[in-house]
Amino acid sequence: MKHTWWKESVVYQVYPRSFRDSNGDGIGDLNGITEGLDYLKELGIDVIWLSPVYQSPNDDNGYDISDYQAIMADFGTMEDFDRMLAEAHKRGIRILMDLVVNHTSDEHPWFVESRSSKDNPHRDYYIWKEPKEGREPNNWGACFGGSAWQYDEKTEMYYLHLFSKKQPDLNWENPKVRDDVFAMMDWWLDKGIDGFRMDVISLISKDQRFPDGPMGPDGRYGSFGPYVANGPRVHEYLKEMRQRVLSKYDTMTVGEASGVTVEEAKKYAAEDESELNMVFQFEHMDLDGGESFKWNTRKIDLVELKQTLSKWQTELAGKAWNSLYWNNHDQPRIVSRLGDEEEYRERSAKMLATCLHMMQGTPYIYQGEELGMTNVPFQGIEDFRDIESINAFHELTEAGIMSEERMLECIRYKSRDNARTPFQWDDSENAGFTSGTPWIMLNPNYKTINAKEQLSRKDSVFHYYQKLIRLRKEQEVIVYGDYQLLLADSHEIYAYTRELDGQKLLTVCNFTKETVTVEVPEEFVGGRLLISNTERKEVTKNDELQPYEAFVVLLS
Ligand code: GLC
Ligand code: CA
Repeated sequence: MKHTWWKESVVYQVYPRSFRDSNGDGIGDLNGITEGLDYLKELGIDVIWLSPVYQSPNDDNGYDISDYQAIMADFGTMEDFDRMLAEAHKRGIRILMDLVVNHTSDEHPWFVESRSSKDNPHRDYYIWKEPKEGREPNNWGACFGGSAWQYDEKTEMYYLHLFSKKQPDLNWENPKVRDDVFAMMDWWLDKGIDGFRMDVISLISKDQRFPDGPMGPDGRYGSFGPYVANGPRVHEYLKEMRQRVLSKYDTMTVGEASGVTVEEAKKYAAEDESELNMVFQFEHMDLDGGESFKWNTRKIDLVELKQTLSKWQTELAGKAWNSLYWNNHDQPRIVSRLGDEEEYRERSAKMLATCLHMMQGTPYIYQGEELGMTNVPFQGIEDFRDIESINAFHELTEAGIMSEERMLECIRYKSRDNARTPFQWDDSENAGFTSGTPWIMLNPNYKTINAKEQLSRKDSVFHYYQKLIRLRKEQEVIVYGDYQLLLADSHEIYAYTRELDGQKLLTVCNFTKETVTVEVPEEFVGGRLLISNTERKEVTKNDELQPYEAFVVLLS
């Protein structure tokens, strides 16, 4: 397996709106990120993935871009960006930009042109279809509710939008779209950025027959998935992107790939670097989905979680590279989902971190995860800001599919806004995030959970993450070792080994609130304890694990 810097890196995701506000308008910004760089340096991360900072009318918090080469006024100026980039590089931190090119904003000049007339030169930059029997061209539903097709009076045709109607999909079949996207990527790479996280990149190629999809759970819209996810030409487009753009630079690329399977990932993230370096897969995050998709309060089953993650670990080994994550700006907080928010909050946060960071792949930390931040006690629908949650609430309650009370319960548990409340810097007013009024409510627990407190305390979650990151730099087996699952059927314990050139690592994690007994494989008994989230001093044969305990043993 080839050794590369991006396999050996740890990435930290910054959600600019909620990280740090430098000018008191209640919105995080680029100068705030620059102010936060020393904190990130202290944590020890190598790379920042920056959620979109481009000009945008903010229908979907910046994932609807109206100018790819301008900075959103809320976030500052291009000079602020250049300063942030230079300051990050000065500290040895690389910057990945979010590349959102499945769609633009409907306020992007390309779309303004495109919708203006059927013979406009930008018409074919987007996907336009004639009505079918006076209705939408097919039954596809959009991710943020309603049909995926929007009728446009001006030219009496429909355009496709897989997300909100203010996010029209680009037509990648048109070579001019690819030319323009690739030129824009060159522009950012020439500026000195270090790569891209590519938004829903698995959806850019659509089956040109545009067939109806299988009916969804509410019986109103069909799924576009089978005809869009990993579509017919997606690998061809990404190879073209590699040849024309990425191959000219030393970059890191990660594709957000909803609907990706192990087989597809072997192409996207192939070891020969013909497309991307790695993808974000969703199988482990979707295990608590169900009838009503993500809107439920089910818990992820540990046995299924182990099966899924282990499949990705073993099947990509040597062929493609994994990304490792529990959290991002689209997921609720992992402590609230798989750990304990109360008595064992810190210990369970450290256990979850251990479980993930000892696997093969590049780990991603989402802002606040390193503090063990939790879900937020939102009350009514007016507390939410996220377009997905708000639309789903109205759509499902108005159609009588869910009661308001039940839907609120589900949104409180699963909403993306759980990840989007302000970063908790200290216990002063507004958690030190802003001197103004924050754009979204704070988690009131900032009085106890905040960076300042954790930096001052040796046994904090922050310092535990810092140690995990350091260990990855010290022990090659953590980066490159082969993975093997142990105790596959245990409903309490996640245990696995890693192995590289005679070095062996054992990771054991208790996913429950109970004390459980674990039979430690003979060879590891008496091995060197690399890290542990309790007072543990050694490992014995029939060992007792405390609630949410985790430890790692090294043999070398
Ligand atoms: C991705 C982003 C998400 C966004 C969507 C549409 O899933 O992570 O935040 O809403 O794409 O761009
Ligand atoms: Ca601001």
